Amino acid sequence: MLAGRIYADVAAGQTGNVDLSLRKTSQLAAQMSNTEWIRSMPGSDADKKFLLNCVGCHTLERPVLSRYTADQFMPLLSRMAGYAQASTPLHPQLRVEKLPTEPGLEQRNRKQAEFLAKINLSAGEDWSYPLQGLARVSGRGTRVIITEYDRPTSQPHDVIVDQDLMGRMDAKTLEVKFYKLPTAVAGTRRGMMDDQERFWVGEFKGDKIGRLNTRTGDFKEWSMPTSWTNPYDVAVDKNGEAWTASMLSDRVVRLDPATGATTEYPLPNETNVRRVFVDNRTSPVSFWIGNKHGATVVKVEPLD
Ligand code: HEC
Repeated sequence: MLAGRIYADVAAGQTGNVDLSLRKTSQLAAQMSNTEWIRSMPGSDADKKFLLNCVGCHTLERPVLSRYTADQFMPLLSRMAGYAQASTPLHPQLRVEKLPTEPGLEQRNRKQAEFLAKINLSAGEDWSYPLQGLARVSGRGTRVIITEYDRPTSQPHDVIVDQDLMGRMDAKTLEVKFYKLPTAVAGTRRGMMDDQERFWVGEFKGDKIGRLNTRTGDFKEWSMPTSWTNPYDVAVDKNGEAWTASMLSDRVVRLDPATGATTEYPLPNETNVRRVFVDNRTSPVSFWIGNKHGATVVKVEPLD
């Protein structure tokens, strides 16, 4: 954390410099991103996967700081399921129609409740596992300017679709062709077509970026450099590089598909990133994201 408050006076049209000194924080929990919480928790990836259903409405700070036992989590899980998508604690909205009861729901909730009661503060004043922050970003990932614009009254949101197939419709014949993704539970969210008729997509549950060549049907995927990044969307710039940002780790990821090399840029504040956009008019390109929970818009300007 910063060793004290530091201010810089920046006159219009000029640059201001300030040297920051850091000291080790005594309150690591307050700085943990969703990615860091999930990676720190004991248990298999399969045990933790359901947590991806929680992060759309709020961070995992609520469950990990709670003191609920497994029994107390049972009604809480039903309450969460009663909120409409894109509800946040600032704007909770109840579902008009209840979700249908699936077979096995009770057992599934019980398993999740037991998991949650192991990773929260129900058993003591501290977590039973060491909190592990991600390694600090260095090198190219620090050569960037990030600007956040407050949008206090807006929380731009998006609807969630969950498909492991991608459909392509011929607008003339209305014929639909489905492509199966190589990753079993890819949880594709948003994407875009590039100028070579390749469709790029964020694989939220697969923790990858995918690219379908719509001419050949070939599919290629790139894993994220940090596990539990879970990208939602992807944008390709004029140089062919792919950009995404995590709903969990508060990091922007830049991928060079030719070499597979990635750069991560850390964002200054907690974010909840959905759609992402590249501005190709600047040089180097700039990258824009909306921060749904934080109600800000963020501009990322890499220095190369
Ligand atoms: C559709 C939106 C939504 C989803 C999904 C969601 N929550 Fe929540 N959660 C909320 C809202 C809104 C609140 C604040 C109101 C409340 O407590 O009911 C909340 C509050 C909480 C709290 C604090 C409650 C308290 O009494 O202190 C916990 C813990 C929690 N959520 C856990 C979870 C877990 C675990 C998941 C995933 C299994 C989850 N939530 C998924 C919307 C959601």
